[in-house]
Amino acid sequence: MDTTTEERLIRPARNIYGSLRLPGDKSISHRYGMLAAFAEGTSRFANFSTGADCASTLACMEALGAQVKAGEGTIEVTGVAGRVTPAGHPLDCGNSGSTMRMISGLLAAQEGTFTLVGDASLSRRPMERIRKPLEAMGAKLTLTEGHAPLAIEGCSLLPIDYTTPVPSAQVKTCVLLAGLQTAGTTTVREAVRTRDHSELALRAFGANLTRDLNSVSIAGPQKLHAIDAVVPGDISSAAFFLCAAALFPGSTLLLDSLGLNPTRATLLDVLTTLGARISVLHLEEKNAELVGSVQISAPAEGLGSAKISGTLAAQLIDELPVLAAIAPYTSGGIRIRDAKELRVKESDRIALVARNLRAMGAEVMEFEDGLDVPGGQTLHGATIDAGGDHRIAMAFSIAALRAEGETLILGAESAAISFPEFFDLLDLVAER
Ligand code: S3P
Repeated sequence: MDTTTEERLIRPARNIYGSLRLPGDKSISHRYGMLAAFAEGTSRFANFSTGADCASTLACMEALGAQVKAGEGTIEVTGVAGRVTPAGHPLDCGNSGSTMRMISGLLAAQEGTFTLVGDASLSRRPMERIRKPLEAMGAKLTLTEGHAPLAIEGCSLLPIDYTTPVPSAQVKTCVLLAGLQTAGTTTVREAVRTRDHSELALRAFGANLTRDLNSVSIAGPQKLHAIDAVVPGDISSAAFFLCAAALFPGSTLLLDSLGLNPTRATLLDVLTTLGARISVLHLEEKNAELVGSVQISAPAEGLGSAKISGTLAAQLIDELPVLAAIAPYTSGGIRIRDAKELRVKESDRIALVARNLRAMGAEVMEFEDGLDVPGGQTLHGATIDAGGDHRIAMAFSIAALRAEGETLILGAESAAISFPEFFDLLDLVAER
């Protein structure tokens, strides 16, 4: 395993200005990569995620018999036409929870035994949530104290009607990918509608699904066929730049060809509530995913306040670290609740956000399911421990832009899990 760690010094900025086009959405790239590798034929993708997580998905699918060819700005994936070849070794999901949970659904319905492993962070994350529905369908999963390494004994499955106990698009996808290969109708119900990229991608690859407000059903078995697609820019990566721009009166930032799927774009509502001026231009649909350009500028009077709980917290789960990190610079603070899931992400994001905000001199209150970050605070530069978590490294690089003095981000290399270009693009738009 590569254990190289990198430090990044972030100097305060005067303003954020410019325009950027961001690499492809991580969630969509995982799904396109996995479905293309399972489908019949050769798919071609432009703007595929450059993050290490999606490379983990592709490497696992290659180990199962798919072919992946990287070209100039595109990748080509030739699929296994619905039948994988068990690899003679454990499949390494790296740091990627999406890879491990979603691929488990695909493999549960395949013949053979599959072992999935991950890095230290992934090996601490809960996997019981996929074992329950897959075993209800007839597969056998052996976990290690509720975590990876995990072994799957795949077989012909039975359909289920499953209500997810915690909102999770990964679990929903896991069950749908098992249902795709199972005779009969498999239904997944969720109390909060999570990101629906799997539903849209399955349809794009030719599958039939029926959807209700909070449920989705798939009647299997069905075959998938190759597609050509351009992956929309990643709005969760854009979140760092949108929040940065929102901090500087006088800023203007244009983000081109950004994924604006309504189950992912809640951040734009929250930033608008905080007072940012946002316009969406050139909206279009690509493979049922909404894509558009977003222009943001900050309010002259500074940001206001926001309360995030319930459905909002679930839909903003990946953006909460950066919102919490900029909260001290608002006038009224940000209150986050119902976000207990943050504790079982790549790190305990509630604890790490609180610790790093305090290192910068901020007052913050930590709760089991959230944080209260008062506004009107002045932060100073500090040494930040990213804890191996990409979103923590990037969130505190943004907080550092408005701090007094320089900030050192330890473990900055973790940004490459989702967004290897982050620091270079930040240098492009941050005026010093
Ligand atoms: C993801 C779903 C979310 C999210 C993760 C990506 C996905 O996780 O936090 O970064 O691509 O489906 P959960 O399914 O655990 O909520």
